[in-house]
Amino acid sequence: MQKDKPLILIVDDSEQNREILMAYLEKENYRIEFACDGIEALDKVKNNPPDLILLDIMMPGMDGFEVCSTLKENRETRLIPVVMVTALNEKKDRIRGIEVGSDDFVSSPFDKEELLARLRSLLKMKQFSDQLDDAEQVIIALARAVEAKDAYTKGHVDRVAAFASSLAKEAGLPEDEQQTLYMGGILHDIGKIGVSDSILNKPGRLTDEEFDKIRQHPVIGEKICKPLNSISPLIPIIKHHHEKLDGSGYPDGLSGEEVPVPARIMAIVDVYDALTSDRPYRKGMDKEKALGILKEESDKGWWDKNLLAKFAKQL
Ligand SMILES: [Fe+2]
Repeated sequence: MQKDKPLILIVDDSEQNREILMAYLEKENYRIEFACDGIEALDKVKNNPPDLILLDIMMPGMDGFEVCSTLKENRETRLIPVVMVTALNEKKDRIRGIEVGSDDFVSSPFDKEELLARLRSLLKMKQFSDQLDDAEQVIIALARAVEAKDAYTKGHVDRVAAFASSLAKEAGLPEDEQQTLYMGGILHDIGKIGVSDSILNKPGRLTDEEFDKIRQHPVIGEKICKPLNSISPLIPIIKHHHEKLDGSGYPDGLSGEEVPVPARIMAIVDVYDALTSDRPYRKGMDKEKALGILKEESDKGWWDKNLLAKFAKQL
């Protein structure tokens, strides 16, 4: 796929520095944008995300460290490489830069060859992460296609994603795991793409053979997502969201501590949403009734009681 020339955003309050950088870069195959301060930089990144940012540290108002940490904390912008411009041998600036997530440094006054080499290498990395991102988008689109196969599960994955990430937060899991549970909510049933519509949408009771096919979906999901590194943290959720703590679930019949915590969370919110959603053959239950059923099932040894109590408190 032919992409546009890479876009570099130069953020510097000194006109002289901007001109020097421009002179170095204009003969290269790049598009260049400028920002004169931190606020303008964040604004430009939001409206037209660049492929790389050359960021001065000392600027009036918001300095380069603050700009960098803001970009690196935001999921949308964290993969844009940031190269900080430091004064020669300013060790403390480099340490601070590493702490706020800067990807590389160049010293001013600039060494042209070194600058260009660093930019080329980071832009190549950015290209890889964009491709990965594209692959992730394809998988997400697939998950949406699966949801669309069944008209009665409309909105299910978004609700489950929201429930799962907020239960993860309530359970004290770190922020990256909360995010994993959100994505897990979107992707948990992706393996249903390999189960025929006539089985998924069958209104009556499933035969044993049909149920066996349904029970394959966590394993199919694992196979779809395994080749993609960025999605690998979701695999325990995709593969084990139908396990039960007493070992009676599928596909592996894991029990107790063997069931990963994110999968236990997904199991509870998935069942809750299924019980409270309308189906072709019944209306969705109200909150109390659904929680009553989940409570009975956790007494039987299926679900994690602590997590269920936390979930009930949140509703
Ligand atoms: Fe499932």
